[in-house]
Amino acid sequence: MNVLFSKAPFHFLIYFFLILMGCSVKDDITPDIITPLPTKSLKSASTSFSVGLSTSTPKLDLLSYTQIIEREFESITAEYQMKMNVILPVKGTYNWSKADQIVNYAVSKGLKVHGHALVWHESTPDWLLNYQGTDVQFEQEVKDYITAVVSRYKGKVASWDVVNEGVSDSAGSLRNTVFKQRMGDDYMVKCFQFAHDADPDSKLFYNDYNLETNQAKQNKVFELIEDWKLRKVPIHGIGFQMHISYLTPKDQIQTATNKAVASGLLLFYSELDIRANPNKDISTFTLERSEAQRLKFKEVVQIYNAIPISNKFGITVWGLKDDDSWLLKHHNNFNEWPLLFDANFNAKQAYTGFLEGLN
Ligand code: G3I
Repeated sequence: MNVLFSKAPFHFLIYFFLILMGCSVKDDITPDIITPLPTKSLKSASTSFSVGLSTSTPKLDLLSYTQIIEREFESITAEYQMKMNVILPVKGTYNWSKADQIVNYAVSKGLKVHGHALVWHESTPDWLLNYQGTDVQFEQEVKDYITAVVSRYKGKVASWDVVNEGVSDSAGSLRNTVFKQRMGDDYMVKCFQFAHDADPDSKLFYNDYNLETNQAKQNKVFELIEDWKLRKVPIHGIGFQMHISYLTPKDQIQTATNKAVASGLLLFYSELDIRANPNKDISTFTLERSEAQRLKFKEVVQIYNAIPISNKFGITVWGLKDDDSWLLKHHNNFNEWPLLFDANFNAKQAYTGFLEGLN
């Protein structure tokens, strides 16, 4: 414990007492802002839902990653290596190696795997995007793919994002993807059924972004879910990606979360990261912004932790350390610090906020 002291006689006695007690004392220095070493891990503090992260190979070959993953988390999501453009890049030629490596690692360490994502317009391989067969044949290709993947990992991958980002950002309509064009407006229902038939025990999710902040999109998603529930479509959960910032209004997160709870589905904060620099107004990670990010992580986790147990599934952060984030790699936001650990694998104040939200 570092104790700051002036030189007053009274303080001298305390100083002398503390020395006797073996405390180290520093004079007149600014207080260190030290992120305390985790007294308990995220997974031990989270007693009612899974805390996970996205990852990829070859990170899982590095002790620097795996020692934190195995200490702090109980679930992993493949950031990109269980998507169709990686598993089936060429028609008829499955490449299971990366997905198998991720699933086998998880199983060997007793970690859950959330499968991401069976159908996503941004990870559709070119051969399917430019498919020359009939619509019936297209649908068969999709059914065969979903069946092959879900069956292969049955008993190892207990949940799947069946469809990712199927609703457009504007006007609250279905996104006009090749799946919608070739399989019809009900393509998502068909995909959920394909996945359910392959593994009736798997929890099946619809996953999307900005459901917290985009009212039209939020309304459309919950309209679809209510229709699917009436039709007994095998959907079990909804994923809020939660790619938010320290400025994202609490009431919007709360309102969207309340809607998910009311739907009766499982709610998954599936890709949480919290931008500290959404307006690009800082060039270094200031203490002020670190504190704001800590508070937002705490707030988000508290909102989630307060939902009924029957709606709880998990919170997954989208990456381990700041410089792993897609926000830097794919959006050149090099002045961004959105995750729980810094580039040197140190727990940030964001980690502390997450832990505080669990308590
Ligand atoms: O690591 C390889 C590298 O070895 C290779 O040279 C390079 C060129 O092919 O590719 C690198 O892999 C890239 C990977 O990110 C790692 O950077 C993939 O091409 C690239 O497609 C992949 O992008 C991922 C993206 O989804 C598309 O799959 C991002 O990591 C991932 O964070 C992002 O995640 C999405 C969610 O799935 C859905 N929600 C939005 C989220 C962010 O876009």
